[in-house]
Amino acid sequence: MTPGKLITFEGIDGAGKSTHLQWFAAELGKRLAEQGRKLVVTREPGGTPLGEKLREILLHQPMHIETEALMMFAARREHLDKVILPALDAGDWVLSDRFTDASFAYQGGGRGLDTARLEVLERWVQKGLQPDLTLLFDIPTQVAAARLADARSPDKFEAESAAFFELTRAEYLRRAAADPARFRVIRAERSMKEIHKSIENILLTDCFL
Ligand code: ADP
Ligand code: TYD
Repeated sequence: MTPGKLITFEGIDGAGKSTHLQWFAAELGKRLAEQGRKLVVTREPGGTPLGEKLREILLHQPMHIETEALMMFAARREHLDKVILPALDAGDWVLSDRFTDASFAYQGGGRGLDTARLEVLERWVQKGLQPDLTLLFDIPTQVAAARLADARSPDKFEAESAAFFELTRAEYLRRAAADPARFRVIRAERSMKEIHKSIENILLTDCFL
């Protein structure tokens, strides 16, 4: 059995990534099952019992920006060890709601942490592993903020300023432009139906099924 693939969903809060992830997971899972493979659906920060505890702290407790970055990567180390690497080794595929691009976008872009520090952590924790495909839900920050205001009470990140999300969005877009082979950018301000169609095309053309 060939190794599995890692697919990640990214975007600023309120872009609609979680909404579309469920449908994408169901469709991809069905196609993989026909090949005798499983799809593991997971998220960051989180994805393991310890990671979910760290998520609770990360999303609700103020802390130094370096503590925040280190905890994100600590949760990721556990996630790779317990969930992602065993699944890929078994030939299964993994779909993660966020991964390391979020650390570069939020801690690097949004909070202004030196990218070189994040690169050290990335090398340490991932040992060269990168997602095979990343869907970036890109949206103007005002549209995302309006969606969130209607949807839920904000956690620590969602309560950040418009300027924070501008920087976060810009870093996501910079990374996508630097690695077009891995990224697919989805214009997420469109209707659910249009986005659904784009994702369906990506599933059929880029997931190599
Ligand atoms: P994220 O996971 O990216 O933070 P969500 O999927 O939770 O975003 O979506 C945030 C809110 O926006 C939800 O209330 C969702 O129903 C709504 N939403 C998602 N996609 C769209 C869309 N294309 N048009 C209008 N509203 C949307
Ligand atoms: P998410 O699961 O998308 O939140 P929600 O379920 O509310 O849609 O992500 C949790 C938050 O963590 C999100 O605001 C982005 C942030 N985050 C980082 O700042 N750095 C990271 O490395 C990761 C993985 C997430």
